[in-house]
Amino acid sequence: MEQQPDTNADIWKSDEIVATWAAEAAQHERRHGAQWRLMAELLPFGEQADVTFLDLGAGTGAASRAILERHPHSTAMLADFSPEMMGAGQAELSAFAGRYSYVEFDLHATAWPAAIPARVDAVVTSLCVHHLPDVRKRSLFGEIFDHLRPGGWYLNYDPVRAEDPVVTAAWTRITDLENPDAARKRQHRTAQEQARYENHVRYLSPLDLQLGYLRSAGFHGVDVWWKRLDYVIVGGYRPSAP
Ligand SMILES: C[S@@+](CC[C@H](N)C(=O)[O-])C[C@H]1O[C@@H](n2cnc3c(N)ncnc32)[C@H](O)[C@@H]1O
Repeated sequence: MEQQPDTNADIWKSDEIVATWAAEAAQHERRHGAQWRLMAELLPFGEQADVTFLDLGAGTGAASRAILERHPHSTAMLADFSPEMMGAGQAELSAFAGRYSYVEFDLHATAWPAAIPARVDAVVTSLCVHHLPDVRKRSLFGEIFDHLRPGGWYLNYDPVRAEDPVVTAAWTRITDLENPDAARKRQHRTAQEQARYENHVRYLSPLDLQLGYLRSAGFHGVDVWWKRLDYVIVGGYRPSAP
């Protein structure tokens, strides 16, 4: 089968997506806000801990905001390859001025920017890893492990692909029941919606495969911390050296 071109960079590096993303902000908060807050709670930082975390594919910083709020002494480094998304994020993060910085980073590049500290206390990814092919998901998990201090945590919130079409159909059925507009939209996508959909599903991969990648990267305590239909929070910690 002919391989479709990867449109991911064109989609995210555009003013159009930033405008759409901003228009959908309330919907994102409703769908994902509780998961971002759970990620913040899962990070086992003490109340007064002076910690640095990295948010890869951070976009406008939704996951970072939940963590900065929950851990008042934390500092965030947000990485993304889209100047447009990072520009929009600066405004959204203004309440946390002095506690965050952005760095441009294309996650396809295995050489990390020098601005990212060699070791951080935690790494999070939210709704981003599914834009990478499996081979890169796997190597990225290894690089994240290497950038964590011993005892540091990695959490990933992302959609996954079912391996059984019956399961896929069940996920779709429930999604449509909960949001009757979803089925109608699927039949009548605009060109931009179709492009975003194709970009969304291009590299979706099974949960078990990704849990295996985390374990082979060296993570301990790998767990599915939260799951609902096709969305999961997975992750683990870097063990302390023996
Ligand atoms: C769906 S948005 C999620 C943004 C944010 N993490 C959140 O949860 O709201 C996906 C983000 O991943 C970024 N992204 C996609 N592919 C990337 C890549 N190869 N390198 C860096 N960032 C990437 C996009 O620019 C965008 O900001």
